[in-house]
Amino acid sequence: MIDFGRARSWARMKSASLSLLMPRVLINDAFKKASEVGYMINQSPGEMAAAAGEVWITRAHTVLEIGVQHGGWSYAMRPFCMSALKYIAVDPTFSPGWPVYRKLLTDTGVDVSEVRAQSQAAFEPVNRALESRRVDVLHIDGDHAVESVLFDWRTYSPLVRPGGLVLLHDVCGSRGPGDALNAILAGSDAGRFAYTHVFCDMWNMAAEQRMGVGMIRMRN
Ligand SMILES: C[S@@+](CC[C@H](N)C(=O)[O-])C[C@H]1O[C@@H](n2cnc3c(N)ncnc32)[C@H](O)[C@@H]1O
Repeated sequence: MIDFGRARSWARMKSASLSLLMPRVLINDAFKKASEVGYMINQSPGEMAAAAGEVWITRAHTVLEIGVQHGGWSYAMRPFCMSALKYIAVDPTFSPGWPVYRKLLTDTGVDVSEVRAQSQAAFEPVNRALESRRVDVLHIDGDHAVESVLFDWRTYSPLVRPGGLVLLHDVCGSRGPGDALNAILAGSDAGRFAYTHVFCDMWNMAAEQRMGVGMIRMRN
């Protein structure tokens, strides 16, 4: 006699572990590719996998990243976004690996807009690149001083659509983004959030390597 209760809970357990494992597998693939191309992704794979689930449920068509460096984050997040994807990349300098990742992204059909400026001077070009779209996912990872992170939040989070996602990087590893996140969570914007979550890879990263990702889901 089949015990349907047990079978159901087994199926649920299996689907839960698959949904935890799949992001990790895809993120690990991106890190493997990064070591092949020679430009490392400046992120913790565990933290990226945790954020990937949130990106996935956002069904992102438009991603805005402040602070791009080589572009490794957006490359690793690519499988978790919709196939038609607009990616707006803001960085005053970019890094030597950017042309490599930019090509990897465009090869998967991503429409990349490059804004070569500090975020403090990028609002107009970002708006032009958006062409009246709203942002589904905003990743803030530029200048890590607390005032700069708060500037990026104040300036760019209003572009995020209801139900969209804001990610702040390095909220555990360095004081600026962590202090900024605390100020955001305690401030008057808190009523705009459906839920918030901080993930810090305690198991796999040594204390000095932990970065931490803050996730803010905007209300619908
Ligand atoms: C930590 S790296 C970004 C890593 C990238 N997000 C990733 O995970 O692959 C920080 C980047 O922010 C850029 N940056 C610094 N100040 C900035 C600012 N005010 N506006 C935009 N980008 C900035 C730097 O040039 C650098 O490339």
